[in-house]
Amino acid sequence: MEIKEIREYKSHILAISKIANEPFKEFKKWIKIAQDNNILDFNAMTLSTVSSNNIPSSRIVLLKQINKDGLIFYTNYRSNKSIDLNHNKNVAANFYWAKINKQIRINGLVNKIPYKLSNQYFLSRPRTSMISSIISKQSSYINSINSLEKKLFYLTNNKKILNNIKCPKYWGGYIIKPYMIEFWQGKPNRMHDRILFIKQNKWVKKILSP
Ligand SMILES: Cc1cc2nc3c(=O)[nH]c(=O)nc-3n(C[C@H](O)[C@H](O)[C@H](O)COP(=O)(O)O)c2cc1C
Repeated sequence: MEIKEIREYKSHILAISKIANEPFKEFKKWIKIAQDNNILDFNAMTLSTVSSNNIPSSRIVLLKQINKDGLIFYTNYRSNKSIDLNHNKNVAANFYWAKINKQIRINGLVNKIPYKLSNQYFLSRPRTSMISSIISKQSSYINSINSLEKKLFYLTNNKKILNNIKCPKYWGGYIIKPYMIEFWQGKPNRMHDRILFIKQNKWVKKILSP
């Protein structure tokens, strides 16, 4: 079958009356639905940033925490995305879960989270992930992965280093504070439900044409 012929939207109708008046509540509900549907990497989001030359870039990052202000992901503060974010705090984030025909689109502004919180999360990670984050200069050019792998092996087996490990200053969390969130529910006949929340003084809820 050709891709253009695939049209099925088995679903899960989105009842507008059942949408919360506050998007974080709805967002958490959708995350739980995705999780309950065993969606692989349900917390993976496409994160788009814009460089100082106005060039957009997208990549997947994992949503790790949700609090009352926003969504937290972790990364290297010297990576390409972080260089973009130093110039422009605007991001777009997107979750798409094909199995349940749901998409969430987010626009927001990012800020670094306090070091203490990054360190807390950092120390909760598996030791190989901690070491990898320390030794990888994310997004920089390398000749091959071999020397990093050797380093990883050596350091993960070095008790003295492991006992003194802490989050490096060049790694940590960003919080996305959304000002727009759209919940999209795919339906048959292309009559998809789209509910948009826009932050004014308070959150305003709108329905969008499919
Ligand atoms: C499923 C998945 C999860 C990922 N999670 C993260 C993450 O949480 N943080 C991160 O920095 N990179 C993550 N990555 C790698 C990024 O997509 C990207 O390659 C890396 O962050 C470098 O991006 P940049 O050069 O734009 O900074 C993930 C990739 C995939 C496919």
